[in-house]
Order: sequence, then structure tokens, then C-alpha cells
Amino acid sequence: MSQPPLTPPTATTGSSLPSGSGHDPLSLLKARFAEGIAKAFPGQAGADPSIAASRNAQFGDYQCNAAMALGKAVGQPPRQVAAALVAAVDVGDLAEPLTEKSIAGPGFINITLKADALARLLTAVDTAHAGAEPLPEGQRQTVVVDLCGVNLAKQMHVGHLRSTVIGDTLARVLERLGHRVKRQNHVGDWGLPIAMVTARLMRLAAAGQVDLGRLTLDDLNTAYRAAQKECSGEFEALEIARKWKMGPKIEAEIDATLDGPKAATEAARATLVRLQNHDPAVMAVWQRLVDVTMAACLEICRRLNADVRPEHSAGESTYSGDLAEVTALFEKSGIAQVDDGALVVRLNDVGIAEPLLIRKRDGAALYATTDLAAVRHRVQRLGAQRAVYAVDARQSLHFRQVFAAAHKAGLSRTATGEQAVLEHAAFGTILGEDGTPFKTRSGESYKLSDLLDEATARAGAAVAAKSPDLAASERDAVARAVALAAIRYTDLCTERTKDYVFSLDRMLAFEGNTGPYLLYAVVRVASIFRKATERFGAGAVAAAETAPFVLGQPAEKTLALQLLRYGTVVHEVARASEPSRLCAYLYETAGAFSSFFDQCPVLAAPDEATRAARLRLCRLTQRVLSDGLTLLGIPVVERM
Ligand code: ARG
Repeated sequence: MSQPPLTPPTATTGSSLPSGSGHDPLSLLKARFAEGIAKAFPGQAGADPSIAASRNAQFGDYQCNAAMALGKAVGQPPRQVAAALVAAVDVGDLAEPLTEKSIAGPGFINITLKADALARLLTAVDTAHAGAEPLPEGQRQTVVVDLCGVNLAKQMHVGHLRSTVIGDTLARVLERLGHRVKRQNHVGDWGLPIAMVTARLMRLAAAGQVDLGRLTLDDLNTAYRAAQKECSGEFEALEIARKWKMGPKIEAEIDATLDGPKAATEAARATLVRLQNHDPAVMAVWQRLVDVTMAACLEICRRLNADVRPEHSAGESTYSGDLAEVTALFEKSGIAQVDDGALVVRLNDVGIAEPLLIRKRDGAALYATTDLAAVRHRVQRLGAQRAVYAVDARQSLHFRQVFAAAHKAGLSRTATGEQAVLEHAAFGTILGEDGTPFKTRSGESYKLSDLLDEATARAGAAVAAKSPDLAASERDAVARAVALAAIRYTDLCTERTKDYVFSLDRMLAFEGNTGPYLLYAVVRVASIFRKATERFGAGAVAAAETAPFVLGQPAEKTLALQLLRYGTVVHEVARASEPSRLCAYLYETAGAFSSFFDQCPVLAAPDEATRAARLRLCRLTQRVLSDGLTLLGIPVVERM
């Protein structure tokens, strides 16, 4: 029988091997055992092959623990199941052949990789992206990533940090894998709150109190808050007074306080109607709001190293002309019903108790209506086969409803009838030390621009203390990189849906699971090459790029196994929209490298071949770490 090649099984084997894991022994073994299980116990095909790295090197490199569960399922003693597996699994040239002797204890199967298998696999991943290469053309998708999502007339605050950083990272990972990514910044630029500010600014401008040509985002913020205040009154109190028949005197008293708010709300509504009709005078002021807000937003995105450009903006206003058509579609098909004058989509049949309101009694559309129009645009016009929404977890009911309603109405089906996958990549809240949503001391949301300034200043001080001989110009660049690494990494390293407590001190630390620590790890590897070049010459360092790998020491082997997982991890991040897995992986890799470097001298290696082999291992580590950080949107530096 011919040896199966050391490549991942293709679709014809029916294995569930995720793409991109062609070099990771763990994934390869899982696939081989899955095939063996299907062969020996056809009824159990698809059962978990349960392979794990072995805890004790003396028992081999990996262990298969599937026999216990399989034994239960097929009613055979686990050792007998293990014997059947050992006979059925073909490990090819990856591991030493399995025999009766591989079975231990109640039915564990010990697996020892072949001596040359690791070196062969490592050589194969020693590519530009270390195994995280683009997928073949046929497996690439068009993917929309909904990110950033700022609102007009409001400063970007820490809440938008997450939608920007997580969304940008997911987009980077998907792009790397060859997918056609369409970033969409669903700016909150339409509706009554926007009309309120617009109305107020028009009034102030008419009275000569503001110069529309010189507005800053801070001015808009102030106007936004004033407009909100102007329109809000004790409307509820009046209703309560009426309901409980508190008497005409109290009612009149409350009513008198509502004159101002009523007039302001009336003006805002009138402005909204003019806005919806694209009245030039209103549109001109609205456009100022857009320009000022977006200039600030794009500048923050640039500082966050997030690729969010003007062409990615598709705000709520983009869909204003589609809303009537979308609601009509729901109404005509009977998917939505009129209830007490409002139009609602009932979703009980798909397990969602709360109906989705898509048109209010007064005829106004809502946030959800716009999102339905956006789904249609993304799937049917942009051709999205998958849409990933990086939005706060507190909007999760909204997205469950919107996605369900979109599916019902066929808005998520492409022109060719393909069903697009809609996913809410929900994220948790950034908390202050007191466990409530993070605010400044005065109770305001923390502005992202202030956060970036503060982090950069602190990073600058830390870098100056750590590396006093860096030139001032270089120090500034390094400080910016450290601050960026700190902010982005902190936001990405916790499991996406979890909340995290904000601490500038902790995120800027050079020790522990932080961005600065990882940046520093890459700098350390780079410095090995500088020293090697000084000592042995550029030629020797260049020759090491293709030197044969030698993996005799346990620390070398551990590092090698870790490096081989890179491609699998990147694919996993893309599949699960979970950047924290890449962070955890990079942190482990830096740790594996540290142990290797402590235990296996590189520059002082016993002989030239070992030195060259270890240099090559350093090079591959450097490539994995910098490639991984780049995917996280953290640019690496030469020195720090
Ligand atoms: N502007 C919204 C907010 O600040 C976020 C937009 C999210 N994207 C979407 N398609 N709804 O809450």
C-alpha cells in the first residue's frame, strides 16, 4: 500500500479538517483518527477523535482518548476499541506506526511523531505568512464587516474602540485568507436625534450665535446635548397626572413646563421631514455635521491603525430611500402585520418572543428598519455571502430580530439564491475599576482621542526610562507603537463577549499578557539577528534561512509544535470571529520562544549546523509573531 502524502485530506475524504491546518500535527492527527473511527466503527463516524498533546513526553507526543467514549457508544471494552482503532488508523509518515504497544491504561493510544516529520512540516510552513496563506480561489467568500458605527455629532468614545478594533482585526484576518472583504461603517446619521441637533444649529446660525464654517466636534457634542435637553420634558409626569386624575391644577402646572420642549420637538420633527425630503438648506447644515464628525472619526481610526476610510461609510442615511420599499415588502408578503397602527414582524415561530417593530404608528421607520435595508444592500448589491457585525452585545436582541426578519423576507438571499450567513460578533462592555461602564471622573464617556493621547504620553515616559539612548524622533514613533499595541491588544485579548476592566497601567505593562510585551518579544528576536550578523557575517545569517531544521531538544520541539499551529489558529479566528484566540496563541508562542532561548543557546550553539538550525527557528518565530501582530493591527518596531 502506498503511503498517504503528508498533506491535509481533501474534501473527498469527508474529513472535517478545517482549511489551513495542513501543517499542524494535531489537526493532521485528528483527521487521520477521524478517518480511522469512520472505518472501524462506521456508526460512529463523526465522533470526536479526542486527541491532545501528551502531558508526559515519555508516553509520546500526543494521546488519543477516544476509545473510552466510543466503547460506551458501541458497548465494547475500551481496550478492544483502542485495538480496533490502532488497526484502522493510518498515520502515514507523520507518526511512528501504531501497534498494540501504543495502547496504555484503560485504552489511551500514545502517538509519537516520526523524527523527521516535524522538520518536514516546519520546512513546509516556512513561507511568507508562516502557514496563514490565502485560501484557494474556490474557498474565498465575499464578507461584509460592519465596524466602527459612530454617531453624528458625538465624540468617538471607548464604546467605539471595540467596534473599530475588533471589526478591523476580523477584516484583516479575513483579507489575509483571501476573502473579498467589504468594510461598512454604519454611521448613525439619520433620524430624530440628528434632526434635533440640525434644527438647533440652524436656529443658532440664523441668530448669529454659531459659525457653521468653524464648527468643531466638541461644538457639535455640546449642541447635541443641548438639543436633547431642549426637547425633553416631564411628558411622562403629565401622563401619570392624567391617568391618576390628579386634578386640572397639577396638570396645568406640568403642562406649562412642557411648552418649550413641545416647541423644540415640533421644530425637530419639521426639520426631520425637511431632511427626509432633502431640503437644500437643511441638507447643507446636516452635511456640516457629517463632515466634522467623519473627519474626527477617520482621524481616530487612523491613529488606531484601523482601516476605516471614507469609502467605507454607509451611514443610516444611505438607506433612507429604501425604507418604504422594505416595509412594503414585509407588509405585502404578510410577514409583517399592522398592530394598533404600527407595523410589526412576529418572530415567535423562530424562537424570539419579542416582535420587531419596523414602522411606528406615526409612519416613522426605526433603527431596525434601516438595518433590514442594510442587510438587503449588503447581500443583494454587495454580494455578501457572510456579514459579520462587530457591535456591542447589548444590541444582541436587535440583531437576532433583524437577522430573523431578514431571513424570513428573503433579504439575506443573494441574486443567485445563495443564503448569506449573518453573524453578530458581539462584544462585552469596557468597565471602570468600580465594575460599571467606564466613564471619566466627571461621569462623561472617555473620549478616544484623550485615551490615545494619555496612552502615548505614558508609553513615551516608559520608553524613555527603558531605552534612554533612543533618539527623540525614534522614541516618539516607538511610544506611539507601544500605546497602540497596549490599546488594541487589551481590547482583543479577552474573549470577545466578556466585559473587561479598563486599566491603562495594566495594558501598558511590559510584562505579562500585554501588547507591549509581545512587541518587545519581536524586538528581542530581531536583536538576535543583529548580533548574529555582527559576529558571523550577513552571509552566514542568510545561509541559515534554508538550513535544515534540527529539533533534538525538548524546547526546540515545543517551539516547533507551537509554530506549526499558526495557520490553524488564524483560520479559527476567521471562522469564529474570535481575535482573542490569536492573542492567546501569540502569547504562548512568545513564552515557548523564551524557554527555547533560555535552554538552547543560539549564538553560542555547539556547532555551526545547530546554530544555523536555531537561527532558522528564530526567523520563523519572528515571522509568526510579526505576522500575527500585523493581523491584530499592531505594527512591529525594530528597536524599543
Ligand atoms: N451607531 C450604532 C450605535 O452607536 C452602531 C451601528 C452598528 N451597526 C449596525 N448595522 N446597526 O449603537
